Amino acid sequence: MKVIIGDHEEISRLIADEFIQQIHQKPNSVLGLATGTSPLEVYANLIKANKEKRISFKDVTTFNLDEYIGLDGSHNQSYRYFMNASLFDHVDIDKNNTHVLKGVGDYRAYANQYDEEIARSGGIDLQILGIGSDGHIAFNEPDTPFDSLTHIADLTESTIRDNSRLFKDISEVPTKAVTMGLKSIMNARKIVLIACGENKAPAIKDLLEAPISEKNPCSILRNHSDCTIYVDSDAYSKVTNK
Ligand code: F6R
Repeated sequence: MKVIIGDHEEISRLIADEFIQQIHQKPNSVLGLATGTSPLEVYANLIKANKEKRISFKDVTTFNLDEYIGLDGSHNQSYRYFMNASLFDHVDIDKNNTHVLKGVGDYRAYANQYDEEIARSGGIDLQILGIGSDGHIAFNEPDTPFDSLTHIADLTESTIRDNSRLFKDISEVPTKAVTMGLKSIMNARKIVLIACGENKAPAIKDLLEAPISEKNPCSILRNHSDCTIYVDSDAYSKVTNK
């Protein structure tokens, strides 16, 4: 696993460059996307590259990692809303080719077919991940089986607390989500993870140094053959073997 250390702006640009290169090499790439604060600057770089005609999303397909159960795509805290506002509305992508798990209605049926749909599209070429302060990737909380596919997950108290910053009140934060599983993520051909800030330091230490175990979901990434971790110095600060 490669580790790249830089400030937030720098690593966001480097990750955006990975996406740009990927789309140049394969204009009909299948991209795995994340929500949250961590990838926002990456998406801003991709919007800029698209406006400057350095890349086109015309033939790109995307799959997002997760969605809150109970929130419709028009809710301003849903991940569909986030993706439209942070990327899709600003680039030349065909929204029919953007997939975000459903949080309402027949969300179970959609979740059950999500991995097959990814496979039918040819599999994810490049997946971006953030990481939770408890080491989750997507919403795979500690003790999620390593062989999990897309499923319904209970959010831990720490995740609910972390995510409450975006809601008016903690009581409004959904307690369940539908999420790609750890195996679904590991199926991607290439993975990049971005983490910034001191509150991510324990998770980054565990990702790089704790035993590979289901107690520590992000540790599975050490088994991937092409995974790069992009961190700022605060997120890297607790790693001992530098
Ligand atoms: C979001 C996701 C989550 C976040 C993680 C970090 O799609 O899968 O795992 O990546 O909770 O969130 P931020 O970036 O807001 O700190």
